[in-house]
Amino acid sequence: MISNKSTKTLIKTLHKKQKVALLGLALVTAAQATAADTQAGNKAEVRTAQAAALPQTVQWPYVNTGLKRDPEMEKLLDQILARMTLQQKVAQMIQPEIGYMSLAQMRKYGFGSYLNGGNTAPYGQKQATAEVWLKYADEMYEASVDAKQDGSRIPTIWGTDAMHGHSNVYGATLFPHNIGLGAAHDPELVHRIGVATAKEVAVTGIEWSFAPTVAVVRDDRWGRTYESYSEDPAIVKAYAGQMVSGLQGTLNKDFLQGFGRIATAKHFVGDGGTEKGIDRGDTLIDEQGLRDIHAAGYMTAIQAGVQSVMVSFNSWNGVRLHGHKYMLTEVLKNQMGFDGFVVTDWNGHKFVEGCDLEQCAGAINAGVDVLMVPEHFEAFYHNTIRQVEQGIIPQARIDDAVRRFLRAKIRWGLLERGKPSSRVESAQMAVFNSQEHKELAREAVRKSLVLLKNNQKVLPLSPKSQVLVAGDGADNIAKQAGGWSVSWQGTDNTNADFPNATSVYQGIRQQVEAAGGKVELAVDGNYSKKPDVAVVVIGENPYAEWFGDIQQLEYQHGDKRDLALIKKLKQQGIPVVTVFLTGRPLWTNKELNASDAFVVAWLPGSEGQGVADVLFADTQGKARYDFQGKLSFSWPRFDHQFVLNKGDTNYDPLFAYGYGLTYADHKELGQFSEQVSAATAAGSDDGIQPLFLRNLTADMAWVLADASAAGSENTATLITTPFGVSLDGKSLAMQSVNLSYQEDGRQLRWNAASKASASLRYIKPVAASKYNTAKALRFSIRFDQQVPTELNLAVLCDQQGACQRQLSLTEPLAHLKPGVWHTVELALDCAAVSSAKEISDAVLFSSSGQHSLAVADIVLSAQKSTEAAAKDFVLIGCAN
Ligand code: BGC
Ligand code: BGC
Repeated sequence: MISNKSTKTLIKTLHKKQKVALLGLALVTAAQATAADTQAGNKAEVRTAQAAALPQTVQWPYVNTGLKRDPEMEKLLDQILARMTLQQKVAQMIQPEIGYMSLAQMRKYGFGSYLNGGNTAPYGQKQATAEVWLKYADEMYEASVDAKQDGSRIPTIWGTDAMHGHSNVYGATLFPHNIGLGAAHDPELVHRIGVATAKEVAVTGIEWSFAPTVAVVRDDRWGRTYESYSEDPAIVKAYAGQMVSGLQGTLNKDFLQGFGRIATAKHFVGDGGTEKGIDRGDTLIDEQGLRDIHAAGYMTAIQAGVQSVMVSFNSWNGVRLHGHKYMLTEVLKNQMGFDGFVVTDWNGHKFVEGCDLEQCAGAINAGVDVLMVPEHFEAFYHNTIRQVEQGIIPQARIDDAVRRFLRAKIRWGLLERGKPSSRVESAQMAVFNSQEHKELAREAVRKSLVLLKNNQKVLPLSPKSQVLVAGDGADNIAKQAGGWSVSWQGTDNTNADFPNATSVYQGIRQQVEAAGGKVELAVDGNYSKKPDVAVVVIGENPYAEWFGDIQQLEYQHGDKRDLALIKKLKQQGIPVVTVFLTGRPLWTNKELNASDAFVVAWLPGSEGQGVADVLFADTQGKARYDFQGKLSFSWPRFDHQFVLNKGDTNYDPLFAYGYGLTYADHKELGQFSEQVSAATAAGSDDGIQPLFLRNLTADMAWVLADASAAGSENTATLITTPFGVSLDGKSLAMQSVNLSYQEDGRQLRWNAASKASASLRYIKPVAASKYNTAKALRFSIRFDQQVPTELNLAVLCDQQGACQRQLSLTEPLAHLKPGVWHTVELALDCAAVSSAKEISDAVLFSSSGQHSLAVADIVLSAQKSTEAAAKDFVLIGCAN
């Protein structure tokens, strides 16, 4: 049992001077503390007076009813602040990312916190063990308390996205994503998951989790729908406080002690309400709706004493939350009484008016306390200091921010607990992916399954039968884990990235074989022995954030592969039980009609056996576990029911919120309409076939090839390598850059006299006929220094090098201004038609010399422009 003395008791028993020394705050440079600092340090509350930027239309409740400030600690904070320099204070407020920041930089500046993004693990090792994470935490800690350069010994803390378990870490227990937990309708289960997650985070030396997400999702096209417990604020409200007290510990009990970690309620506020479900978009709603729907989770999270709140990327009625003083300061801090600190989201400050990646007084003045500045932290640090010196950011605001952050750190006991590996809780490595946690995750899987259809009572299945397990989700842990699992998008994972995890198929095999039955795995349904029943495991492929935004709800629109698989089995008289892995409700009428039973398993995580637990009866034919899951999201009847929520007027779902069959139900479902809406039939957007960089697919990769070393090629899958995408060829290097969105572009840097090329390649060539209707290729390009003397482009080429088009871009683009993005449209329907039958390389840029350029937003279009649409638009017809 871990018992560490609470900070409060500790502080009480110490003499004042001792305290300051113990807390590491006898700053080497204390003497340098400016007079201004000292004066402003004491009364560091930015209050209501400065806050009211917007007329208030509703009252927000005061919800911080459980956590009181300790006057002793406040006095201590006064002293600490009085001794800190402006530099030290600003360093506390800045949070760099480990893919960009070195230990030396931590030593130099003493940043208050740092994070690992979804694609970054210590030392760039995706499969780093928990022990390696802990070692890294020690190194950062040591660097932060080294006072030689910055004069500060205040320890840093590490923040990570422990989204569904300690989900960035190889080998961690992965619980179902939030959408599955929502279906379980079980706040107590959520609490236990919080406790277990905190333990796994603790043994890796990490102090802080960026979870839970308390979004209330109203339009399921949003790519983060699965991070939400429910469309219903009531569930989110019931869960948020439980998850927070699970992670942090319970107020007046074990709050922030032992394994307890600092939790984050995110993303404040309205993230689940954006127009068309567009990630980082605009939430149009009145203040009452914002409060009653989207802020529901914050009510209980704050009540449970959550120490941090992350600001959302989205806007509310056109104003970015990152600069929203009314919401951050007046509502969240003053009216709701949130007593912790506000952290920004990844570069979220750049969206605030007047801000860019390197500076943002607007966000700080609006009330953010800690800024997640993954990459540009040095510039941000210097700029913030200057903005304070120039009076653009009031000193009192800085003091308030630092006070809030230090208060949380001290509450957590950071100053007494020592370096990560020396903490009592870190010695308990056995809790990491323990049997107990695996059992808990398995229980959560069982409780999250929702049974939509069970005609002829085909379920539960007999474990004594011949069972076929089919579908590409059957033995695919990456797919059942979804995004935010070991990597950010989750698209590059294989079963080897999930040691000790169990796929749905493996779970079925264990249970059936133990009962004397037989199991055959055949992803494509081509069995060798005719089965008594087929379990077909299908569903969405992994995605995260905006990569998961969709325009329409039909499952496998335009490519009904899985429907064909189900039908093929049915035609042979085999009963089909479909297990659907998904991050959201989708229009699945056709798949539902074709299946005898249909189970929604959401994104169950690492313990796939939970599915078999419920699907299979015992040897006597009696169900071992009944279905308990009930929809926490309404299931659509039509493919265009984008905004479909409990309580809507004219609510007309296929399966209502709360629906979910049990083994006691006798319900035969008839056939549902298979009519798709006109909009879906016509295709979703402006005739553009989504392709390449706009719509990233796991089946493409960038390939760099050096002409000098024939046959030596470097490959990176599109999105996930240890940090974004960067590739080093001999004479050409590639790195992710941003155009409109993070990592939507690639910079190519040539660095040799010899020729080298970069191509976007299909890992498995696709039929050329797929592109029959493509009339033009469009892309954005930016030359960094000058237009190179040689730059060639080839489009839609086969393995032998026959292409739809090949040309030199040097002349048509010679006039482009370096440093600026331009859109280029290239005609593809020119006279000389290629003989390519299979496309291998979609686009291929080749050049030599020393120069760099960036490309983004590469798409094929069924439409051609007749004239240049804008000044920065270059039209290349067939003549070139
Ligand atoms: C994600 C990070 C991720 C990064 C990739 C961000 O938007 O939230 O966790 O590592 O993108 O560069
Ligand atoms: C996401 C956050 C996450 C952060 C750090 C952002 O892109 O929106 O939810 O905590 O990255 O990975």
